[in-house]
Amino acid sequence: MTWLKRKNSPKNSRDVAKEEQRRCSFFAWSLLRILPLLLLIFAVGGCEKAAEQDNAPKLLLGFSQIGSESAWRIGNTRDIEDQAAKFDVSLMLENANQKQENQIAAIRRFIAYKVDVIAFSPIVEDGWDNVLLEAKNAGIPVILVDRDISTQKEGLTSCVIGADFYKEGVMAGEYLIRKADSLSMNRVNIVEITGTENSTPMLQRQAGFMDAIAGDERMTVLKSIDGDFLKSRGAECMRALLEEYGDGIDVVFSHNDEMTLGALPEIEEAGYLPGEDMIIISIDGGQKAIDVLKEGRINCVVECTPKLGRELMETAYRLKAGLSVSTVIHPEEQVFSDEQDTSEIPPRGY
Ligand code: AHR
Repeated sequence: MTWLKRKNSPKNSRDVAKEEQRRCSFFAWSLLRILPLLLLIFAVGGCEKAAEQDNAPKLLLGFSQIGSESAWRIGNTRDIEDQAAKFDVSLMLENANQKQENQIAAIRRFIAYKVDVIAFSPIVEDGWDNVLLEAKNAGIPVILVDRDISTQKEGLTSCVIGADFYKEGVMAGEYLIRKADSLSMNRVNIVEITGTENSTPMLQRQAGFMDAIAGDERMTVLKSIDGDFLKSRGAECMRALLEEYGDGIDVVFSHNDEMTLGALPEIEEAGYLPGEDMIIISIDGGQKAIDVLKEGRINCVVECTPKLGRELMETAYRLKAGLSVSTVIHPEEQVFSDEQDTSEIPPRGY
């Protein structure tokens, strides 16, 4: 009890002041001891934050690619990756392996991840409204790369960056008319191996080609057959066409190089010389097809460039900044054919 009483007994003012002084000097001493540690913590934290800011990509872009069906597609993916690195864009790239449902799922993941901009190459034109409405409601702008969509709804996408497929078809048809003239042909029987049904290049290349030859009475399209842009399907289609029409075929119009390269061995196995017995017209302009054009086994290749990456990055930055963009962006394309000195065609890069 006595001890308790002493402990609780009030101190005089000198004692209180002394105690206060002792506490202050202990606090100052403690602070001095841990100061270097505190400085280190602040310094490291600050540096990390600065580093985070420096390394932070300026834009997060989700891109759903169709697949890897052709040299064109592989070149397109590579170009987009290269340009993303150049433009300091962090790219979430998903390969849909030729399936629309995979593309839809990828777009939903991009929305959940809150990317700045979504881009995708729609495998076919229909069936995108729901997922694009979700992107719109999330406030994420969408860029169509390479191919277009078909929709009744307004404002689902900001723009399309890709080839003018209709013009490619027209250029193929115009070449054929010139070639038929130069060979004085009075009958031109055509078989067409088309790309993926209901895809923009399939629809537009066909429309452009048909429009271009429409006024020429020598031209007859014997059959159009779906080759799905694949080399293996190109071979299958050509086999079936040769069985059905044999030497009745004057022209093969194929919607891409891959299918053309699949068709050529079939033509040769059937005993015909592609480029001489049959006029071969292809689209894309990849290195392999250009090499075959130089050999004379293909007559004409209409260019379709896969190099869309730079436009994509620039457009994505503009959209992120809230700036306006052109609704349709087409690259310049040309025709390579036996009408020119093919040895002068520079390396294609895809
Ligand atoms: O959409 C472009 C087309 O798709 C190319 O012509 C073809 O090669 C690719 O697979």
